[in-house]
Amino acid sequence: DSITVLAPATVANVVCGFDVLGFALSEPNDTMHLRLTEQPGVTIINEDDYNLPTEPTRNVAGAALLALLRAVPEPVGIEVRISKAIKPGSGIGSSAASAAGAVVGANRLLGERFSKAELVEFAMYGEEVASGVRHADNIAPGIYGGVTLIRSTTPLPDIVPLSAPPLFVTVVHPQIEIKTSDARQILKQEVPLKDAIRQWGNVAGLVAGLLQSDYDLIGRSLEDVIIEPVRSILIPGFAQVKERSREAGALGGGISGSGPSLFMLSREEATAKAVEAVMQEVYTDLGLEHHTYLTTIN
Ligand code: HSE
Repeated sequence: DSITVLAPATVANVVCGFDVLGFALSEPNDTMHLRLTEQPGVTIINEDDYNLPTEPTRNVAGAALLALLRAVPEPVGIEVRISKAIKPGSGIGSSAASAAGAVVGANRLLGERFSKAELVEFAMYGEEVASGVRHADNIAPGIYGGVTLIRSTTPLPDIVPLSAPPLFVTVVHPQIEIKTSDARQILKQEVPLKDAIRQWGNVAGLVAGLLQSDYDLIGRSLEDVIIEPVRSILIPGFAQVKERSREAGALGGGISGSGPSLFMLSREEATAKAVEAVMQEVYTDLGLEHHTYLTTIN
């Protein structure tokens, strides 16, 4: 038998929660078809134009599936056909979608034998292939849905799903390339205590704001004094998008994952639409090709 999985795009970090917060988007989604095969091992078939590697050890979905199969005692073969709608390198969790979708699909074919936390563990091997880092802030929301807190990934993933009030998400993907590995390389390895205090105040405030549906608190907490000042330099239009989106009524936002996409959260759909217009205007003025999404947390 075979199954079809929709693997959502995700926003990692959520401004203040570098590597520990992420949420899933309703759109866009990759489509993945999986089936068990007689021949043991992993077969990858790409059904899009991105020319991603098909050798399982070099493919994000492949590496995640190989990790899962290592935990399956009987000989099993899995074939996955991937049609990506989430552009690789866009900053909305393209690699995580492939890895998460693959292990969720395989688990279903194998009778749901693994927990979600175990699936996160397997999928992190895929992230490692993509960027060299086993971060789970795209994978966890991809697998759990909604907003997730990654309290820890060692020794095992400790994932806390967070309830959240309705939120509209506007995303703009300016067509420049930023590699996650490069965007991590430039970060300072030490944080002054006063910045750390400000940041964990914001993370705690954001979590409390989500749980209590306190939109003002969510907005106040969408501030990053550690990562954004370094990374925003790589993204033309960043300051304009942020400032003008706030003026248009957005609660706040910033870089999606390691960029280049930017995202903004809004309470009302009309605000999210106004934000989308702002984003389009900024990048049209800069003469930079861009793509926008108006969606929700899923
Ligand atoms: N937390 C990771 C980073 C997400 O910001 O490097 C990458 O998508």
